[in-house]
Amino acid sequence: MPDFLTIDDFNFKDKTALIRVDFNSPIDPETNKILDDTRIRVHGETIRELVEKGAKAVILAHQGRPGEPDFIPLKQHAELLGKVLSKPVKYVNDIFGETAQKTIKKLKSGEILLLDNVRGFLNERKKGTPQEHSKQELVQRLAPLADVFVNDAFAAAHRAHASVVGFTAVLPSIAGRVMERELKALTKVLETPEKPCVFILGGAKADDSLDISRYVLMNNIADHVLTGGVIGHVFLVAKGFDLGKPNMKFLEKKGQMGLVLGIEELMRRYPRAIEVPVDVAVEIDGKRKECAVSEFPTEHPIYDIGTETVKKYTEIVGEAKSIVLSGPMGVFEKREFVKGTKEIFNAVAASEAFSLVGGGHTVAAVEALGLAEEMSYVSTAGGALIEFLMGKQLPGVVALKKAAET
Ligand code: 3PG
Repeated sequence: MPDFLTIDDFNFKDKTALIRVDFNSPIDPETNKILDDTRIRVHGETIRELVEKGAKAVILAHQGRPGEPDFIPLKQHAELLGKVLSKPVKYVNDIFGETAQKTIKKLKSGEILLLDNVRGFLNERKKGTPQEHSKQELVQRLAPLADVFVNDAFAAAHRAHASVVGFTAVLPSIAGRVMERELKALTKVLETPEKPCVFILGGAKADDSLDISRYVLMNNIADHVLTGGVIGHVFLVAKGFDLGKPNMKFLEKKGQMGLVLGIEELMRRYPRAIEVPVDVAVEIDGKRKECAVSEFPTEHPIYDIGTETVKKYTEIVGEAKSIVLSGPMGVFEKREFVKGTKEIFNAVAASEAFSLVGGGHTVAAVEALGLAEEMSYVSTAGGALIEFLMGKQLPGVVALKKAAET
């Protein structure tokens, strides 16, 4: 029994369901067009199920942050959702005003309405408890028109925002299918990982890598942490390597050097669990050239892990029973430097282990390599996934559990 309610616990026939999804998508800054509709497709399945069960579906979602270029209305999202579902999706340029309220009241069973970008509500992003947020205008105006709140937005569950937690204090509240699936997959690797369990951490942002590694090693979740990408570079520095001017400067500019002391300490505690690259690929005149870390420092930028590292990591992956893959091994967008990412991702795809893949660039790399189908679970979440992997409680999930208790 999960400790929150799901779609199976509620009769949706002729009921108005307020459904919080995460449609936040990458937007082309020139054309304002949605570049990737993955999130719309996955939440589309939850919405389809609800309307097939007879619900009147009212959808709440956000896009971007106020003041940023990707903060746009949700008209396009409604059109794309309509295409995904092959059903008309109504859209109003309003969140909880008269137009929105009138349209909700007129909805019939099986109809779908997408309200406008919920972050257009000034207090949406204010942090608060479910009780505090339930007093906000957004909740006060919409909750009386709904019978049930469905939170499907796992990717926004790390935000204690009004539309994420507020309705759980005043409406029966349940998890949507995406929320349910994400929690099941993540809980499987964090609570009962089949051993050996390997975490592969890569990508261009090292900020959270220390906290994740510390959490999964100290709690006996991971047996190995394999590092690549910029994360690998910071771990190499913590091991005492001088990566050479361009690479050290890059780490300083990105403010990543502050992690070094903490990583050093963690490596002393878990000397055999943490792996760093033994060789790398650098760019010389636009070409790939490999060098062992024993040859450091290098005057050239490091863009990938090398062949020996791939061999070493592939062997560890081959023995694994659970794998968490977050982040590419290098600058995979450059053809000469896709090799490390491709080979490690291929090894994960070929493994029999339960493989969980997540994080914006990771999913993009998995899609680009055509490996999405081979992975056990591909998460659509970014920040929420990272916070979950660091052992943090997500307010959106806590609120659903609390609602189930009451
Ligand atoms: C995400 O894409 O991680 C979520 O939609 C949350 O977006 P935010 O970081 O702007 O709150």
